[in-house]
Amino acid sequence: MCGIVGYVGSKKACGILIEGLKRLEYRGYDSAGICVYHDGKLCIVKSPGRIAAVEKKIAGNVGIAAGTIGIAHTRWATHGEPNEANAHPHCDNAGTLALVHNGIIENYATLKQFLIAKGHVFRSETDTEVLSQLIGRFYNDGMRVLEDAVRAALTEVSGTYGIAVMSLREPDKLVVARKGSPLIVGVGSGEYIVASDASAIIEHTANVVYLNDNEMAVITRDGMRTMTLDNVPVTKEVQQIEWSLEQIAKGGYEHFMLKEIFEQPEAVRTCLRGRLDLRDMRVLLGGLEGVTRELVKTRKVILTACGTAWHAGLVGEYLFEDLARIPAEVEYASEFRYRNPIVEEGTTVIAISQSGETADTLAALREAREKGAMALGIVNVVGSTIARETDAGVYLHAGPEIGVASTKAFTCQLAVETLIALMLGRRRFMSQSMMEQYITGLAEIPDKIAQVLQQAEEIRKITEEFVRFDNWLFLGRGYNYPVALEGALKLKEISYIHAEGLPAAEMKHGPIALIHEGMPVVFIAPRCATYDKIIGNIEEVRARKGRIIAVATEGDEDIRRYCDRVIYVPDCLVPLQPMLTVIPLQLMAYYAALARGCNVDKPRNLAKSVTVE
Ligand code: F6R
Repeated sequence: MCGIVGYVGSKKACGILIEGLKRLEYRGYDSAGICVYHDGKLCIVKSPGRIAAVEKKIAGNVGIAAGTIGIAHTRWATHGEPNEANAHPHCDNAGTLALVHNGIIENYATLKQFLIAKGHVFRSETDTEVLSQLIGRFYNDGMRVLEDAVRAALTEVSGTYGIAVMSLREPDKLVVARKGSPLIVGVGSGEYIVASDASAIIEHTANVVYLNDNEMAVITRDGMRTMTLDNVPVTKEVQQIEWSLEQIAKGGYEHFMLKEIFEQPEAVRTCLRGRLDLRDMRVLLGGLEGVTRELVKTRKVILTACGTAWHAGLVGEYLFEDLARIPAEVEYASEFRYRNPIVEEGTTVIAISQSGETADTLAALREAREKGAMALGIVNVVGSTIARETDAGVYLHAGPEIGVASTKAFTCQLAVETLIALMLGRRRFMSQSMMEQYITGLAEIPDKIAQVLQQAEEIRKITEEFVRFDNWLFLGRGYNYPVALEGALKLKEISYIHAEGLPAAEMKHGPIALIHEGMPVVFIAPRCATYDKIIGNIEEVRARKGRIIAVATEGDEDIRRYCDRVIYVPDCLVPLQPMLTVIPLQLMAYYAALARGCNVDKPRNLAKSVTVE
């Protein structure tokens, strides 16, 4: 989604802003722009398309090259097509100020009408320009201090925003504010870098201040003041970003997605480190210490998330019921937040999110808390909004996930859910010997993922055989049904091949009509209690001349009789299987995208972090 970068200091702002935008590219965007103050002017350059187009346009622009304060933006179109006029920054009518904005101003139409009636002339179709004009109206109509005008305007708007504003009249100042859209301030020596995402800051400093919703900051070279939108001063703690610059680079891989697929053994190992106690055979989750007693007594777990994280939640539903014997259900965050859900006493809601900023997941979490649930988070990005708004939680420690298609966050989400379910299971009913089996099994997962990855070349060849087909099915049962959904999602979002994931037995209730000669059907069929049933489902597809690719347990030679191609994963306990069976499907999606010439790091219409609903 949209990205914000801002700089104030003694260095030339332009390079820092452009580099920052490039670090945010992975989030997805369709236009970009920059504003730098120099010599009494706000120098603004914008362009549809890539950041390179902006760079080309600013070559030779003396003002932009010389200034030491500025703001920049990558836009992911919501209101109005991606063209130069709609790109940020946006100004007020008098050209006194410039603003970049992430989020959506919901009442923009009413405000726009009001402003037009007062003589304002709009140059774009965006909701953002309404906000810049409104701030300008206050600023040029009596209010002489930028933060006062920003505050006054923000009280009039409804919706979500992360904004950075600068002005001609106070050229040493950036004013930033947030509500529902992340905003972080990097604190350097004599300089500040504002960004919507830590990856644009890390190159300059690891010291950051996370703004909360309804907070703003007034930043100059001499310091930063933070306050609520009601102008009550707040003291913010300077925190450390945990990630390094190397972690957000491609490290020799062609695409971030491939890098992150291959990082999974290490990511899961890091995620389990210190949490799996192999000496005393127990699970230690420091992040849940304060709530463990309450959690053990919980009557129901609701897992809420979107997309891939929702698929992890579906595995979680199985894990919590199976290993902890707690009734569990998974809810699409976007549905949960609007359907007036019943949250009974003793309910724990677990929000699962890589970014920790997904608008629907955050809103679902708030809804559940409002209704009295205890709220936990399974989040990757440290200090993100969801992480901060939960009562307790467990970080994934997967490292930064830049690839738009989520991969390593998914396997780490599964690892964390398993840890929580085991911890609760042991305290509720699980025998120590059973616990030991799981702990041993979980500790072996990183090496087993590495074994699956060794077959990448074989998986590439299999994928290329089938890649010309435009419709695929993914079928699984039990713990591998969510994996089927995830396999289908990965394939469609990266390669644009239409794919559906289903519980295998559901096929005969309708979707079987789709099967025709040659259609690729991927069965996730490792050894488990329903293995014979899934062989029956494979036979049904074979009878209709579909072509079958199976993901099966190593040593299962028998399954070859029914399938066209087999990809093997090491044996493991059934509840742990998804962490292995998903790996070939991630690789298939990646290789299918390559074979079809799709841009894996910038998939069509997709953004990494969906901070609008
Ligand atoms: C798919 C994908 C998305 C995200 C979803 C939730 O590959 O990445 O479906 O899983 O947008 O994002 P987070 O986990 O950041 O809340």
